[in-house]
Amino acid sequence: MKKAVIVLPTYNEKDNIKSLIPAIFDETKKITNWEFSILVVDDNSPDNTYAEIIKLQSKYNNLYLIQGNKEGLGRAYIRGFDYALKNLQPQILFEMDADWSHLPEIIPQFITEIDKGADFVIGSRYIKGGSIPAEWRWYRKIFSFFGNIVVRLGFMNLKMHEWTNGFRAIQGSFISKILTELNSFNGYVFQIAILDRAIKNHLNIVEVPMHFKERKSGISKINAGKYILDILLYILLNSTFLKFCFVGFIGFIINIFGLELFYRIGFTPGVAAAIGAELSIISNFILNNFWSFSHNKIDKNTNIINKFGQFNLVSFGSIVIQFIVVTLGTSFFGDQTRFLFLLTSVIVFIIPYSYFMYNRFIWTNKSS
Ligand code: GDD
Ligand code: MN
Repeated sequence: MKKAVIVLPTYNEKDNIKSLIPAIFDETKKITNWEFSILVVDDNSPDNTYAEIIKLQSKYNNLYLIQGNKEGLGRAYIRGFDYALKNLQPQILFEMDADWSHLPEIIPQFITEIDKGADFVIGSRYIKGGSIPAEWRWYRKIFSFFGNIVVRLGFMNLKMHEWTNGFRAIQGSFISKILTELNSFNGYVFQIAILDRAIKNHLNIVEVPMHFKERKSGISKINAGKYILDILLYILLNSTFLKFCFVGFIGFIINIFGLELFYRIGFTPGVAAAIGAELSIISNFILNNFWSFSHNKIDKNTNIINKFGQFNLVSFGSIVIQFIVVTLGTSFFGDQTRFLFLLTSVIVFIIPYSYFMYNRFIWTNKSS
């Protein structure tokens, strides 16, 4: 029988887990083709959560407990995943909050999706059929909603609606592959890091709608200030889209300097500009391949030549777009608006066009 381990991180969740753990086992015993265990990862909770688990262990064989120091949610998950993979050999690992925000009755939906071939299932508050608690204070609603919007835009990935919720079912083999990479994410940003890696590794990710409930008892451990900073830093360092924009900016500078340099050497302005443009195309190709899109790096020589040809074609498309927008704009508003329309063509048309084309044709998931 296939095995699933539900990892429950706890910090002062004594009152919640008393009822939650029996409720989870009641739910999972209805699922006949999977064997479920629960692993509680407690960080020496001052309220003696562990003592409650030990009581429950006399009733449930498949209930495990590990203890450690409080080093953050991400750390707790890493320890839990590591322990589960080494000792319990699960095909699937669940993440779940231990405060009744995540209702056990949707576990079967996660399993249905896994049985249908999903590698990574996430409980989603931001798709049809999902919600955040109506009783949340306005700032918490705004924080959660805009947090997800910022992440979606930062990664320019609009397919995923939910990035932060920690109710998930994930292939054990994937977790074991990336576990050491996750070591540096000790806080709640861990959730974003793991999903980002799932996307870059081309996992089959499915969102299932869920109502997120307010916790039953106790208080949230989230540190909003640290969390916001961690998220922004994570996006800055890991967003393919932001890296792509930065590479484009460097290309633009190279274009200008190329024009100047080759003009001074003695070429005509037109030829110097064309050389500058090609230099920027070369730099864009190299930097994108080894940095922005390195998760889909093109590394076979024959492919590199091929793709570089296609890349030049795509770049030529940008030149055409610029030509059309600047021509149209200046014909209506006068030649003095040429820089305005140059900027417009880059921001409104060329950035989305190039990003789409690179993802679709150049750095696709089979490009290596
Ligand atoms: N062991 C351990 N160590 N557990 C922790 C720690 C820690 O440092 N910090 C939090 N937890 C446990 C809590 O006891 C709870 O079971 C679960 O992790 C979630 O923590 P909450 O304190 O309830 O956080 P929240 O409800 O505000 O978090 C929500 O947003 C997060 C980020 O958006 C949930 O949706 C999380 O799943 C989500 O990751
Ligand atoms: Mn909570």
